[in-house]
Amino acid sequence: MQRTFSIIKPDAVRKNVIGDILGRVERIGLRIVAMRKMRLTRAEAEAIYAVHKGRPFFGDLIDFMTSGPVVVSVFEGKNAVAAYRELMGATDPAKAAPGSIRADHAESTSRNAVHGSDSVESARYEMGCVFTPEDLGLVVPDQHAA
Ligand code: RTP
Ligand code: MG
Repeated sequence: MQRTFSIIKPDAVRKNVIGDILGRVERIGLRIVAMRKMRLTRAEAEAIYAVHKGRPFFGDLIDFMTSGPVVVSVFEGKNAVAAYRELMGATDPAKAAPGSIRADHAESTSRNAVHGSDSVESARYEMGCVFTPEDLGLVVPDQHAA
């Protein structure tokens, strides 16, 4: 079992395809273990994409990721990281495999519908930027707390 972190980006939320994307995720056998629709703050978007800080597209990427609501989620299943990357398709939709999320919903390399972690380590880091240990089922709330 493995967990990966996903963002349905502002372009896909605007296109009204949240359900379509989540349906594809469930149909390949992954389970949604945490999920929230939210507007990312600049600090959250910069933290999630910290590996790209300094790249020429970084400013545009942060502007775009904070331009409207997104859906952040954690998917769990066998080889979740690779399975979701395959479902997403290539970063550039022109190179994305037919039937992939990006082939069907992305407009360009910078407006490409979804994010998915590229390793188990990145997934653990990225989910921690927007979910609490309790959201992730890592801490069981005390039922008897006053
Ligand atoms: P992501 O992190 O969003 O899942 O995408 P990825 O792994 O397929 O691609 P990555 O290289 O990590 O790039 C992160 C995001 O930055 C934007 N980007 N724009 N204009 C450009 O040349 C360019 N290159 C990357 C994209 O939104 C990409 O998804
Ligand atoms: Mg990436």
